[in-house]
Amino acid sequence: MDQQVHTNDRGSFGSNIGFLLSAIGSAVGLGNIWGFPYKMGKCGGFTFLLIYLCLAVFVGFAIMMGELALGRKTGLGPVNAYKAISKKFKWVGWLAVAGGFFVLTFYMVLGGYCIYYVVINLIGIFGNMPDSSSFGAMITNPGLSIGVTAVFFLICWAINRGGVAGGIEKFNNIGMPALFVMLIIVIIRALTMPHAAEGLKFMFVPGYATKMTEFGQFVESTPGVLSILATAGGQMFFSLSLGMSAMITYGSYLDKKANLPKNSGIIVFADTFIAMLAGIAVIPAAVANGIAQGLTVDQIKLNGPGLLFSTLQDVFHNMGAIGGIFGVIFYVLVLIAAISSAISVIEGVAVTFIDHASAKGKEPSRTRAVTLTCVILAAFSILVAADGLGSNGIAPWQFFKLGEEAIANWNDCWLDFFDLVAEGILMPLGAMLMACMMGWELKPKFMEDEIKQGSNGGAMGFWGFCIKFICPVVMFFIVLVQVSDFFGLGWF
Ligand code: PFF
Repeated sequence: MDQQVHTNDRGSFGSNIGFLLSAIGSAVGLGNIWGFPYKMGKCGGFTFLLIYLCLAVFVGFAIMMGELALGRKTGLGPVNAYKAISKKFKWVGWLAVAGGFFVLTFYMVLGGYCIYYVVINLIGIFGNMPDSSSFGAMITNPGLSIGVTAVFFLICWAINRGGVAGGIEKFNNIGMPALFVMLIIVIIRALTMPHAAEGLKFMFVPGYATKMTEFGQFVESTPGVLSILATAGGQMFFSLSLGMSAMITYGSYLDKKANLPKNSGIIVFADTFIAMLAGIAVIPAAVANGIAQGLTVDQIKLNGPGLLFSTLQDVFHNMGAIGGIFGVIFYVLVLIAAISSAISVIEGVAVTFIDHASAKGKEPSRTRAVTLTCVILAAFSILVAADGLGSNGIAPWQFFKLGEEAIANWNDCWLDFFDLVAEGILMPLGAMLMACMMGWELKPKFMEDEIKQGSNGGAMGFWGFCIKFICPVVMFFIVLVQVSDFFGLGWF
C-alpha cells in the first residue's frame, strides 16, 4: 500500500449498534418510500420482491461488504482508500464521490421540501389543512424552495460538523428508532382506512397494477423478466446507498473487531424490511383516499415526488384536523430518513478533504471540510430548487435552448439531469469497477484478512464468488439499463 493514514481527527463510531443505525439510516431514505412500493406493484408484486431479494443477497450484500471492507482496511474515504491500494485506482474513488455529490444536489432540495411539509401540516392542525395544490405552489416559488433547502443544508451541516460519534451517530441513535415508531403509527392508520385492501393488492397481487399513469399519461405495460430485473437492480442499488461513497466512509470509521458479513447482512435486511413497511404505510392510504375521491387505482399518482408531496398530502387533507397530526408525524418521519441519508453522503464527500489534509501532514479541520462541501453543493442545489422540477423555465434543455425532442424519454428538469449523471452513470459504473478490481485484479484473497477480523470468515467463499462473477455482470447490466431508460432507447 502506498499510504495508511489513521488520525484521531477523522473520528469513529462509538459502538457497533451506532454504526448499524447510521448505515441503516443511510440506506433508508426517500428511495424506500417513493420508489420501492410503486416499482413492486408495477413489476408483478411478489415476483419483483423475489428478484429484488436475490439481487440484494448476491449483489447488494457483496458490494456492501466490499465497500465496508475497503473503508475499514484502509481507514480512509473513497478517493484515498482506492489510492492507498494502488494509485491507478484513485479515479474509481472519484467516481463514488462524484456520484454521491450529484445525488445530493437534488436530495438536499427534496429534504427542504420535507421541512416545508412538516411546517404546513403543523399549521394545518390549527387551521386550514393543506392539500395537493401545495406542491405546485411550492415548486413554482423559487424563493421558498431555496429557503427550505437552505434550512435542510443547515441541519445537515450542523450534524456533520458535530463529528462521527458526536453528530452522525447521535442523530441516528435517536432518529432511527423514532422513525420506526412513527412508521408503525402511520401503518396502523393507513390499514384502518376503508378500501385500504386495494392498496395492498396493488403492491402484492401480480398483474393488478399493469395499467399505470406516468407523467400524466396512461402507460399500459406487463413487464418482462428482463425489465423487472432492471428495475429491481437499479432500485436495490440506490436504496442501499452503494457507489455513492457513504459506505466506504462509514466502513473507515468502524471498529476493527466489528463483524463485517453480519453487519452487511443486517443493513441489507433492514433496508428491504423498511421499504416493505413504507409501502404498506403509503400505498394503502393513497389508494384508499383516491378511491374515496372516485378515482380508479390506475389514476392515482403512486410514484416519485408526486406521491409524497401531492397524493399523500391529499390523504391528510381529507382526514380533517386530525390529518394535520398524522401529516406532521409522516413528514417528520420522511425528514429523518432524508437527513440520515444525506449526512452519510456529505460525510463521504467531506472526508476527501479531511484525508487529503492529513495525507499532507496537516491537521485536518472537520468544520472546514464540511463547510466547503456544503458550499460547493449549494451552488448546484440552488439550480435544482429554483428549477422546481422544470416548472420555472430554467430546465437544462430550455436553458441550453435545445429542443426537448433531443432526448426521447426526457423529463426536462435539473433533478432528472443530475439523477442521470449520478444514478444512471457514475454510481453503477463505480461499483462495477470496484467489483472488477476486487474480484479480478486484487482477487478476493486481498480482503480476506479484513473480512476475517471479527468474523469466522465463513462468508469469504460466498463473497468471493459474488464479487467475481455475479456483481460485475449485474452491474454492467444496470449501467446499460439506466442509460437505455433515460434516453428512451428501449433496449430492455
Ligand atoms: N439509500 C438512499 C435512499 O434510498 O433514499 C439513497 C441516498 C440518496 C442516500 C441520497 C444518500 C443520499 F444523499
